[in-house]
Amino acid sequence: MTSKILIIGSSGQIGTELVLKLRQIHGNENIIASDVRVGNYEVMKSGVFEILDATKKDDILKIIKKHHIKQVYLMVAMLSAIAEKIPKRAWELNMNTLFNVLDLAKDGFIDKVFWPSSIAIFGPSSPKKDTPQHTIMDPTTVYGISKLAGENWCNYYHNKFGVDIRSIRYPGIISYKTIPGGGTTDYAVEIFHEAIKNKTYKSFLSEDTILPMMYMDDAIDATIKLMKNKNIPKYESYNIAAMNFSPKELSTAIQKYIPDFTITYKDDSRQEIANTWPQSIDDNQAKKDWNWKSKVSLDQLVKSMLNGLNYNV
Ligand code: SER
Repeated sequence: MTSKILIIGSSGQIGTELVLKLRQIHGNENIIASDVRVGNYEVMKSGVFEILDATKKDDILKIIKKHHIKQVYLMVAMLSAIAEKIPKRAWELNMNTLFNVLDLAKDGFIDKVFWPSSIAIFGPSSPKKDTPQHTIMDPTTVYGISKLAGENWCNYYHNKFGVDIRSIRYPGIISYKTIPGGGTTDYAVEIFHEAIKNKTYKSFLSEDTILPMMYMDDAIDATIKLMKNKNIPKYESYNIAAMNFSPKELSTAIQKYIPDFTITYKDDSRQEIANTWPQSIDDNQAKKDWNWKSKVSLDQLVKSMLNGLNYNV
């Protein structure tokens, strides 16, 4: 029997596209999508979908057994801005789901796990530019704290129990198929929807707030490449980088295709979060260990987003 892959959190921004890409690679029948809520139409119609609350370990195990799952991508998380509003719930969701999957791997029910970390693990004392793989980490958000704790737990389960866990610290991810929910980098997705609909956007980050960003295709490529690699030296949650820009720079890149687009700025509590995050990331370790390389430039990202949202350029 072919072993199958389970995506938990398949209705989210990254989970959606991961399911679609993995189904292309491995065949629709080998990728099981799951989430607490139904998702994107393409995901729902192209293969099996299970309703799953990943805070319930027994429910995950049932699905693992039912579908002969050998690999799990755990894409469940409450993101940075929303987690600040309900810190305890965010902590419980982000940590309990991770423990459930790590324990199932430790107990031999699955062979390999992917779990995403984030640039949110860095904080005000981390170097802002070319933030290294290993450096001071003092996250100020509940989301960042949960991701940094999660990284340490992954390391622990790997060293102590030999769990094969792979992880990436994603920058802000930009895509058009589903919208992100509750993140600090969400402006970089919203801006495209508003540019097309209203020709104007009010940014909740100030004009010169530079953050590391990446187009979804790069993020998916990186994830699958890391999971496929046979020679990862040890567990590491890898820095990866593609581009860095501010709201002003992104708006200029959009104006190339929508010249009458305008942007205004009114920062809110998300500005404080952004101020603590890196402006650029050093991803040499990922380049060295598994040949990571970003392929999508800012101009290509802008074109793909506009075309993807049916504004043909
Ligand atoms: N995009 C995420 C957020 O803004 C960062 O991992 O919360």
